[in-house]
Amino acid sequence: MAKARVQFVCQNCGTVHARWGGRCDACGEWNTIIEEDPTGGIGGGPGKQPQRKGRAVTLTTLSGEIEDAPRILSGISELDRVTGGGIVRGSALLVGGDPGIGKSTLLMQAAAALARRGHRIIYVSGEEAVAQVRLRAQRLGAADTDVKLAAETNVEDILATLAQERRPDLVILDSVQTLWTDAAESAPGTVTQVRSASQAMIRYAKSTGAAVILVGHVTKEGQIAGPRVVEHMVDGVLYFEGEGGHHYRILRTVKNRFGPTDEIGVFEMTSDGLREVANPSELFLGERNESAPGAAVFAGMEGTRPVLVEIQALVAPSSLGTPRRAVVGWDSARLSMIIAVLEAHCGVRLGQHDVYLNVAGGYRISEPAADVAVSAALVSSLAGLALPTDCVYFGEVSLSGAIRPVAHAAQRLKEAEKLGFKSAVMPKGSQDVPEASRRNSAEIADLPELVARIAG
Ligand code: TYD
Ligand code: MG
Repeated sequence: MAKARVQFVCQNCGTVHARWGGRCDACGEWNTIIEEDPTGGIGGGPGKQPQRKGRAVTLTTLSGEIEDAPRILSGISELDRVTGGGIVRGSALLVGGDPGIGKSTLLMQAAAALARRGHRIIYVSGEEAVAQVRLRAQRLGAADTDVKLAAETNVEDILATLAQERRPDLVILDSVQTLWTDAAESAPGTVTQVRSASQAMIRYAKSTGAAVILVGHVTKEGQIAGPRVVEHMVDGVLYFEGEGGHHYRILRTVKNRFGPTDEIGVFEMTSDGLREVANPSELFLGERNESAPGAAVFAGMEGTRPVLVEIQALVAPSSLGTPRRAVVGWDSARLSMIIAVLEAHCGVRLGQHDVYLNVAGGYRISEPAADVAVSAALVSSLAGLALPTDCVYFGEVSLSGAIRPVAHAAQRLKEAEKLGFKSAVMPKGSQDVPEASRRNSAEIADLPELVARIAG
């Protein structure tokens, strides 16, 4: 009798090990290795496949077929922008986020919006019963649409259900962690199950032309629990994020085979569902405390959209041998760099000071263009001098202390003007800046110049 083959799979990163161990060598996580049956994957191994022939095609003969990827638009502009102009037919998307952040809410609202535009949508819930999903839909004002609901977790059952329906435009599977297939023996939620089930659903999408959205819960470490592997299989990955205590949520593209990856969609969670936030700057500036030292408004960009956000710094004498540096909403390595540049080139001594940096509203900045605003906030706090309340800051700082121009200067300034800001501090040599904005702005070449401006 053939020996049953088993393998040991890390549930965190998906690495296959020959034997069990307490710690995964690949990702360093403890207690994540589980014994699984490797016969996962629908259709089994290569031995079971009958001989088939493929056919190669030249790119030019394809041009007529895929002129531009056909997309389905939801009419929820925050969502359509993030997907790059609508969900591409036949594509598979993964929507990840912490439990309770509002993924099911978002997708139910999207489903309703799409159904109202005449698309056929099927919402398969593995976490809630049909009655519960309907209750939520009622609360969201989506109960009058013809979104079809199903409560199933077995992939073969789901495929059979889908086969009975007229070809759907979009199938939503909430969530991948509940899916399981007969073809794999391990428990639902394990890497093998999630991978096999997702594979089957992605194959369904490619063969029928229906778009498939997979919902995945993220662990505290910020990974989509277990099935990191799914990220590689799908055409797009969106993360739905938010900070505890804040009502707004951000939908962010992490991967997109059919569009840009730096777009965000901003929503606000209300008692009757998610509301689109068309002007996020107002949201992140809403909590502004006028003329306090240590606050600087950064004119940032998220993809194609300008976002203004307040950066707050607190610099205070330290009683510790090694002063504290704490950052919320920005990169802490970047903060260390700015502090080093301030010390080395501007004579600003922060070695005996605790430094706290916070981005207002729980927002996260990923752009180096925030360097100048952060520097301004730090110097302002250290000197105890408030910055002008009607001024925005942007620009990248290099290790030599020079301030480098950043992209989209004109758009940043336009947004600032729209929100009532009168002036800007920006890098010398910024491109495409209208003459009127240039007159009201200070163009600076290096960090010492900025420090001199603030501290006088
Ligand atoms: P949910 O979509 O179930 O989260 P996920 O699918 O990501 O786990 O959202 C659950 C949270 O959203 C819950 O804490 C309640 C809140 N919520 C509202 O505030 N308003 C609403 O209209 C709905 C439906 C949910
Ligand atoms: Mg949910």
